[in-house]
Amino acid sequence: MRELSMHILDLAQNSIAAGATELVIEVSADTQADRLMISLQDNGRGMDSDFLARVRDPFTTTRTTRRVGLGIPMFEAAAKACGGCIALQSAPGKGTYLAATFRLSHIDRAPLGDIASTLMSIVAANPDLRLRYTQRLDDKLFVLDTNDVKAQLDGVPINEGAVLKWLGEYVNEGTDALKYEF
Ligand SMILES: Nc1ncnc2c1ncn2[C@@H]1O[C@H](COP(=O)(O)OP(=O)(O)OP(=O)(O)O)[C@@H](O)[C@H]1O
Ligand SMILES: [Mg+2]
Repeated sequence: MRELSMHILDLAQNSIAAGATELVIEVSADTQADRLMISLQDNGRGMDSDFLARVRDPFTTTRTTRRVGLGIPMFEAAAKACGGCIALQSAPGKGTYLAATFRLSHIDRAPLGDIASTLMSIVAANPDLRLRYTQRLDDKLFVLDTNDVKAQLDGVPINEGAVLKWLGEYVNEGTDALKYEF
């Protein structure tokens, strides 16, 4: 995938398919350590240790429409190609944590891409999900918590067109100062 935000969108689908009601996505760049970390934490149904041991294999999937599941293997391949790795923790009934590291300056590191559109897509299709997104560049931080947004909306659905448009602009403006060749 040419943009890391496409991985994020794909992996968020895993969390939603697992019945998550809360999803925390973090993108954190540390220029001193030359490291980028992307993580997703959800409270979905989780995976047992047996399944977890196999999930990095493309032939491990609970999909019914095809026999390969590529989300996690592709994310791992992208991280490994950039001198990084993935960490995966999960427990049935508790949720799942997935994180990948990349060497920030690695020539093969994909750009972050359009994170505003990615978050808008997730919110548009899952208005009841509590989504918390944080993006960090060294000591600069942007946070979006859909619960805070909902508290301001006075009952207007968060997936209404005008709200989504505002949300996209808010994310674009808020992350503008956090760009590291993303
Ligand atoms: N956050 C999660 N919570 C619970 N189960 C998960 C989670 N992420 C992945 N899984 C399980 O691991 C399997 C493999 O995930 P992966 O993203 O690699 O492929 P997929 O979702 O099956 O297919 P694709 O991503 O190619 O559409 C999923 O089918 C699902 O059963
Ligand atoms: Mg998937």
